[in-house]
Amino acid sequence: MEAIASKSIAEFLENHYCGAKPWRTVISLYGNNVWKLLLAGILYAIKASPLWIMPVITANVVNLVQHPGEHPFRSLALNGAVVALALVQNIPMHWLYQREISKVARSVEAELRAAIVRKFQLLSISFFKNSRTGALQSKVLRDVEAVDQMSRTLFEGGYGAATAILSSVIITAIRAPKFLLVFLIMVPVACGLRMFLTETLRKGNREFRQEVETMAAQVNGMIEMIPITRAHAAEETEIARATRKLGKVQAAGFRLDLQNAVFGGVTWVAFNIFSMMSVIVGGWAAITGVIPLGAGDVVMVSSFFVSISNSVMMLANMIPSITRGFESVRSIGEVLESPDLEQNIGKAAVTCVEGGFRFENVSFTYKGTTRGSLNDFSLEVKPGETLAVVGPSGAGKSTLMNLVLGFDRPSSGRILLDGRNMNDIDLRGYRRSLGVVTQETLLFHGTLRDNILYGSRNVSDQAVITALENANALEFVKKLPDGLNTMIGDRGARLSGGQKQRIAIARALIRNPRVLILDEATSALDTASEAVVQAALERLMQGRTTFVVAHRLSTVRNAQRILVLQDGNIAEIGTPEELIERNGLYAKLCAMQRVG
Ligand SMILES: Nc1ncnc2c1ncn2[C@@H]1O[C@H](COP(=O)(O)OP(=O)(O)OP(=O)(O)O)[C@@H](O)[C@H]1O
Ligand SMILES: [Mg+2]
Repeated sequence: MEAIASKSIAEFLENHYCGAKPWRTVISLYGNNVWKLLLAGILYAIKASPLWIMPVITANVVNLVQHPGEHPFRSLALNGAVVALALVQNIPMHWLYQREISKVARSVEAELRAAIVRKFQLLSISFFKNSRTGALQSKVLRDVEAVDQMSRTLFEGGYGAATAILSSVIITAIRAPKFLLVFLIMVPVACGLRMFLTETLRKGNREFRQEVETMAAQVNGMIEMIPITRAHAAEETEIARATRKLGKVQAAGFRLDLQNAVFGGVTWVAFNIFSMMSVIVGGWAAITGVIPLGAGDVVMVSSFFVSISNSVMMLANMIPSITRGFESVRSIGEVLESPDLEQNIGKAAVTCVEGGFRFENVSFTYKGTTRGSLNDFSLEVKPGETLAVVGPSGAGKSTLMNLVLGFDRPSSGRILLDGRNMNDIDLRGYRRSLGVVTQETLLFHGTLRDNILYGSRNVSDQAVITALENANALEFVKKLPDGLNTMIGDRGARLSGGQKQRIAIARALIRNPRVLILDEATSALDTASEAVVQAALERLMQGRTTFVVAHRLSTVRNAQRILVLQDGNIAEIGTPEELIERNGLYAKLCAMQRVG
C-alpha cells in the first residue's frame, strides 16, 4: 500500500478544497493519481472489449449464414476463437482494473479523513463550541464514504460510457457511417433529461442531509444526557423530542424516495423506448434501403444503439450518487474551509515561559452576543503569583480563563505573556508550560499511566509515582487491582470525582508547568476529599503563576491576591485581608459562606 495521508497532502487539501466548486475539488482530490487512473482506464477498455466485439461477431455470423463463403466453418471457428479470447481475458483484467481503482479510492478516502482529523486539531475551541459532535462525526464517516462512492461511480461510469460510446461510434463509422445520424438524436434527449433531474434531486438531498445530521447530533446529545434525564424523570420528554426529529427525518427521506422513484421510472421507460427504437429504425433503414445494411449489420447497429443509450442512461443514473457526493463535498468543506483557525503556524516560537501576564484593556464579547463578557480589563500578574478569581455566576471568570488559555482571543485590547503579545506567539509552545485542572476532569479510556502521561514524553515511572504522591493519589492508586496499569473506563468512569481530580493534579504536576489554571478544581468534592485535594493543589501551586477560580472562598484564602469580578468588570482586587477590610463584594460573599 502507498503511504497514507502525509501531512503535505492534508495541507494541500486544506488549501485547494472548495466545497462550492465540487467538480474542481474532486479533480484536485484525484490530481495526484492521474497515471493510475489512466492505467485503470486502459485496463477497463480491454476488459470491456467484448462489449463491442460481441456485436461485431454476431453480425459476422448472421452475415455468414446469409451468404456462406468458401470456408464458412473456418470463418465460424475464427470468430468463435476471437470472441472466446475477448471474453476470458475479462476475468484477469477486471481484477487488475479493480485493484488500480481501489488503490486510488482507498488512499483518497484515507487522505480526506486524515485532512479532516488534522483540521479538527487546528480549529479554534470556539469552532467546537458552536458545532455539534454528531454532525462533525458524520462528516468524517458518512460524508467521506459518500465522496468515495461517488468517485467510484464516476470512474466506473465514465470509463464504461467512454468505452461503449467510442467503440460503438468508431465501428459504426466504419461499417455503416450514415447510421451515426440516428445516434445523434439521442444525445440532446438524454442531456435534457439529465438537467431536469439534477435540479430536483439536489434540493431533496440537501434537506435530507441536514435532517440526518441534526438527528445524529440529537441522539448523541440524548445519550450523553441519559443520567440527567433519568434523574429528572424526563424520559418521556426526551422520547417525544427524539420521536419528533425522527418523524422529520422520515418525512425528508420519504420525499427523497419519491423523487428517486420518479427518477427510476423515467429512466427505465426511456431506456426501453431507446432499445426498441433501435431495432425498428435499423429494420426500416435496411428495408427502405435508406442505409444499405445486411441482416447482421441491423443486429449490430441496434446492439450499438442499445449500448450507447445504455451508457447515456448509466451517466444519468449516476446523477443521484454524484449529487449526494457533491453534497458531502460541501459538507466536508464546512470543516476543511473553516477559517476559524487557531493561528499558530508562522508565529514566534515560545521556548521558555516565565509566567508573567499583563492584561491591557482587554474586552471580550462572545460571537452572536452584544454584551461584553469582559470589559476593559487591565491587570498585571507577576511570575509565580497566585491570583484567585471570584465573583458571582456569569461574572466572566471562565471567560478570563479561556483568554489565558488562548482558547479565545480578546475582541479588543491585548494580553502580554512575559512581555509578548499572545496574539503573536505560537500558543502550542506556551501551552507546553501550562497545567490545567478543571471541575470536570477529562480522562479517556486507557490505563491510569496513559492518562497521567497525556501530552508528556519520556517520563519515568518513578516520576509518575512522585507526582501521584504529591497529588495525594498514591494511596488509592496502590489499592487499584493493576496499579498504574488499571484501565479506568470511559472518561474515568471507574474512579470517584475526587480520585479523578487528583489524577488531573498528578497530570499537571508531571508537566511541571510554569502557569497553572484551576477552574473550580475542588467544587465537585465533599469536604473530606476537598481537604485532601486542596493540600495537593497547594503543593502544585508553589512557585508557579496560578489562576484559581473558586466558588468556595475557603479554598482561596491563601491566594496572594483576590480578583473579584462582576458583570465582566473588576469589582475589587487585593489581598484577602485588604478585601475583608474594605467590606465590599468579597466580604459580602464571604459572609454568605460564613468564612474568612
Ligand atoms: N459561548 C458563549 N456564548 C455566548 N455567551 C457566553 C458564552 N459563554 C459565556 N457566555 C456569557 O458570558 C458571561 C460570562 O460567562 P462566564 O462563563 O465567564 O461566567 P463565570 O464567571 O465563569 O460563571 P460561573 O461561575 O457560573 O462559571 C455570561 O453572561 C455568559 O452568559
Ligand atoms: Mg465558569
